[in-house]
Formats: sequence, C-alpha cells, structure tokens
Amino acid sequence: RKRIGLLTSGGDCPGLNAVIRAAVRHATLSYDWEVLGIPYATQGLLEGKAVSLNVHGLDSRGIDPLLSTGGTILGSINKGDTEAQADQIIAGYQKLGLDALIVIGGDGSLAIMNQLAHKGNMNIVGVPKTIDNDVAFTNLAVGFDTAVNTIVDALSRLSYTAASHDRVMVVEVMGREAGHLALNAGIAGGADVILIPEIPYSISGVCKHITELRDRWNRRFAIVVVAEGAKTIEGQERYYTDSQGEIRLRGIGDYVADQISHFSGDTIEARVTVLGHVQRGGAPSALDRLLATSFGKAAVDLIAKDDYQKMVAWQNGVVVSIPIDEVTSNSPILVDSHHPLVETAKALDTYIGDL
Ligand code: F6P
Repeated sequence: RKRIGLLTSGGDCPGLNAVIRAAVRHATLSYDWEVLGIPYATQGLLEGKAVSLNVHGLDSRGIDPLLSTGGTILGSINKGDTEAQADQIIAGYQKLGLDALIVIGGDGSLAIMNQLAHKGNMNIVGVPKTIDNDVAFTNLAVGFDTAVNTIVDALSRLSYTAASHDRVMVVEVMGREAGHLALNAGIAGGADVILIPEIPYSISGVCKHITELRDRWNRRFAIVVVAEGAKTIEGQERYYTDSQGEIRLRGIGDYVADQISHFSGDTIEARVTVLGHVQRGGAPSALDRLLATSFGKAAVDLIAKDDYQKMVAWQNGVVVSIPIDEVTSNSPILVDSHHPLVETAKALDTYIGDL
C-alpha cells in the first residue's frame, strides 16, 4: 500500500482543487493508497507537515466542492530559498514516509522540485498548471482556459461601455513573458489591438490602426489588449519619479493609454483596466475541470507504474507523459510570430505589432 503526497506550488489558478480531487479519489478508490496533502508546497515539506486527504471535503449535504472551487485547499507559495533549504525539504519528504509526490505547478516550480528530486531520490510526478500556458509539451495547462474566459467576459463588458462613450479601452492582462493569454483572449473577445511580449509594437502603429477603424468602418471605439510583458519597438520610458522622489515603473496598461492619448493629440480618449488577479480567480471552466480531472487520474496511474520524474501533458486531446527534465529545459514556451493564431488575428485586421 503506497503513501503519496500532493502539493500545489507557485501562483494559484482555477482547477487546482479539481486535480487534488481526482488524484485523491482515484488513489483511494482504485488503489486504496494513503494520500497526504502537503500545505504551502516546499514550506510544508520543510516542516514535515501533512494533512490526510483520504476523507476529503464533502459538505453537509454530500456535495463535493473541490471540482468547482477556485484557489487551492492546500495553500501555495512562490518564494523561499529552496537551494539553501534543499536538505531540509528532502528530509521532510523522507520523514513523511512518502513513496511518491504529485507536484501541481508551473515550469518554475517543476524545475525546483525536479532538482530536489534528483538530489534527494524523491519520486515525483508533475501536473502542469498556469494561467500563462507557457509549459512545454502540453497544449494546455490547468487554469489557462478559465483565465481566457474571464478576460473574454471582461472584454465583452468593456466593449459596450467603450462604444457608448467612443473610447479606447486598454485592458492589461497577465502572462509574464508569454503572450498566450492576451492572444487567445484577444481573438476570442474580438479585440482590435493585441500587444504581446513576443512581437514588438509601435504606438504609431496602434494609433494609426485605431484611426483607420474610425475612418474606414465608422468604429468610434476600440479594445486594446496588452500583455503585461509587451514591448514597444520605439523604446519605452516607463519609469517616473513619484511625489516622494521614488523612481517607479508605470504599469504597461497606463503607459499604453497615455501614449495613445498623447500621440493622438488627445483626440482619442483612453481608459485603462488592469484585470490583475481577477484572472486567477473564479470557478474552473468545464475544460479546466476536464483537464484537471484527467491529469489527476493520469498522475496516479504513473505512480502505480512506478514511472517517476514525468509530467502529465495534454497533446491533441489525450494525456501523455513527458520527462520533467525535458519539460523544464524547453520552458517557457513563447508565442511564435508564425503561430496560427497570430495569422488569424492579422487576417481579421487586428493590429498585433510591427512584424
Ligand atoms: O504565473 C502566473 C502569474 O499570474 C503571472 O501571469 C503574473 O505575472 C504573476 O503570476 C503574478 O504573480 P503574483 O501572484 O506573485 O503577483
């Protein structure tokens, strides 16, 4: 009878609890294993802490809320000096008597846990999650689809208020150095301009496009989706000195909106919405629940076969497994400028930078 651990590491996202639920149910019902939840990722291991997940959260009416709730019941961290604490973390794994550990994390967390696993002979299986969708070898990571839907919903709401006031709405979205979130949500939400880190933009190009929308199509409003890592080819000066004399970095959304107003001689009125951590919240979409459930089940099956240091991945509608070494050495995956979705955006007259 195996004893396995589960942890969630790095930024949270919708669908983490659904992975936990699937893994616990399959491990318990199909294999009769003992399943421990490690709180706060490496912090829990470090302290040798764990909670039993064998009897898990049915509410008083017998409803299992894990499938549909956001966040992670185990808590998560994305800080800590894991290199300095490596020995203690490995000792925690040994102390808990684990046969294997399911690590639900993005490429950063998987890389850290993979190093620790090599160093301390820990058996790990990875499950990819991140709203950035930049983990190599998987078409989808848990959380991405829900975040895309959240952004699309916001774009739809913003379109109506933008149209009512003839305004340009600049919507800043997350994604770190990858533009997958902005590109997917921008296309699905009908954005007029999509600015992603991988394709530099010019503010003159953005303004020209917005002006053309007015002149050619009588469209008096526009939606601009800007990824937090977007870069201009003109060189951006986003630093400013605040009233206390501190040098600060202006958010890219504010910067783009200011530039649009300035470049247009204040003939274009722009407003900014920074969606922020709203993108990480909410109930997981149906696709994320399906993905999370398939991944949780597949991770347990890998452990049953003693097939370790692998990450489950979604490729063309089926779950496969990939060595974590390969995943981490090929991540993050960025948007290629010849990506079919870039071609689609361009074909629909969306400004996506100066290619
Ligand atoms: O990697 C997920 C992500 O949400 C990024 O898109 C974003 O840049 C970052 O995490 C935000 O991190 P934090 O929650 O630490 O502010």
